[in-house]
Amino acid sequence: MTAKWWESGCIYQIYPRSFQDSDADGIGDIAGIEQRLDHIAGLGVDAVWLSPITPSPMADFGYDLANYCDVDPLFGTLADFDHMLAAVHHRGLRLILDFVPNHSSDQHPWFVESRSSLTSEKRDWYIWRDPGPNGPPNNWISDFGGSAWEYDEASGQYYYHAFLKQQPDLNWRNPDLRRAMIDVMQFWLDRGVDGFRIDVLWHLIKATGLPDNPLNPDYLPSMGEKFSVMQLNSTDQPEVHEIIGEMRALADSYGEGDERVLIGEICLPLDRLMAYYGDAEPGVHLPFNFELIEAPWHARSLASFIDAYEAALPPGGWPNWVLGSHDARRVAGRLGADQARVAAMLLLTLRGTPTLYQGDEIGIGDIVIPPERIRDPRELREPGRGLGRDPARTPMAWDTSSHGGFSSSDPWLPLHADWQDRNVASQSRDPCSMLILYRQLLALRRKHPALAIGSYHAVAAEGDVLAFERRHGDERLLIVLNLGGESGQMPPETGGGRELLSTLEAPSTASEGYMLRPNEGLVLALSA
Ligand code: GLC
Repeated sequence: MTAKWWESGCIYQIYPRSFQDSDADGIGDIAGIEQRLDHIAGLGVDAVWLSPITPSPMADFGYDLANYCDVDPLFGTLADFDHMLAAVHHRGLRLILDFVPNHSSDQHPWFVESRSSLTSEKRDWYIWRDPGPNGPPNNWISDFGGSAWEYDEASGQYYYHAFLKQQPDLNWRNPDLRRAMIDVMQFWLDRGVDGFRIDVLWHLIKATGLPDNPLNPDYLPSMGEKFSVMQLNSTDQPEVHEIIGEMRALADSYGEGDERVLIGEICLPLDRLMAYYGDAEPGVHLPFNFELIEAPWHARSLASFIDAYEAALPPGGWPNWVLGSHDARRVAGRLGADQARVAAMLLLTLRGTPTLYQGDEIGIGDIVIPPERIRDPRELREPGRGLGRDPARTPMAWDTSSHGGFSSSDPWLPLHADWQDRNVASQSRDPCSMLILYRQLLALRRKHPALAIGSYHAVAAEGDVLAFERRHGDERLLIVLNLGGESGQMPPETGGGRELLSTLEAPSTASEGYMLRPNEGLVLALSA
């Protein structure tokens, strides 16, 4: 089998506001991304996914779109985009855009029109309902807290918004809306983009009649108000798969050898997640798997999950793993600097497409955002619960020049406190840095088909040690990871293994009777 680019490759997520500013407004932009392509190519990834760059009032920093087919002036122009896309392709990289089909901005002309009257021809493009006995039509809660319904005085109806009230949900049961959105995808695919990461894909269709969501008996306020109900009627309805089929047919129409990929952002338990690979008809190529972000960092439970995930994949379904994102706490903050190195090795040695988030390759950790600089609407709406996403969205640090080389003026969010040491230039010179480890791991993946596309085999291990094998043809690689801070027992299979890479600085001597050092991850070549 020849692997497709999105199977063997690694995806790198860019958060455009915070990657590189080229016009001194403190906010990253498209020309900035183009300037930094050396870093991306040098890292050894294969594709870049950009969080939204389309026009937006920025209530949710681009995830509130006021136009699906243009570029926000903050980021540049369509011509800048075409130029950057050509430069990406010139380097043999692919470009994936964020597509946000579940909701638009309340400033989108479609919503302005829909809101204008009960009889507007676009009224049904959004989800409008008469008030219920207690006000809102049902008990659905916004993901950012509070009722998911906003009352519109002028028409006497409520509209539904799964996120902010500035992000009204589109009605995917309306055939005209559906066609308009498929046209949007075609607009970008025709421009040459290599695929989409589709925002909150499992939200697109809501249950007919919009019944209340069941209350969550395990709810604690610290979780965020959205967890007060179980989103059983507001998300993951069977009809969503028909829509995904339509999207997939469009992607596939670009033909063999010109594969366009669809990646679904889907936060669901395994059994329901797997349905997004499709059934009789193919679904998305990669339903995002967020387990490495969400699960506790325990070798035994992770080992069981990996096995369960592998076993649950439908025939032909290709796995994927995500370690960080613009929505999650930084991995180096969550696990600490030592384990972030082990996590990098896990991400890049598991079977499946890895997604790496900008800044994790230099190990940016937790950042305290001073109260007056908080920008994330989620934090502002439900403060102090640790839900804020600003700490994951701070600017990249490139060198020791002012503002880390990110911008010549004050950035929209502060940089991490240790940016003078923790930046791309310094880490490029330090053979023991996180950046060099990422480059080594990506190079190893490229060199060894067993890592990029080989099969996965669980290996029994104990305590904090997680072990598995990857095989391709005659090649057998053993990955042994110590997820703890004490020495760990090597699995017996190690005998005769030749070390290809360790997460620790000094070379190990993984010989007979060897104990895994604290926080050590190893890739070993076994004799066939
Ligand atoms: C996705 C995005 C997140 C955004 C939300 C609403 O989860 O990743 O950043 O706030 O959708 O669009």
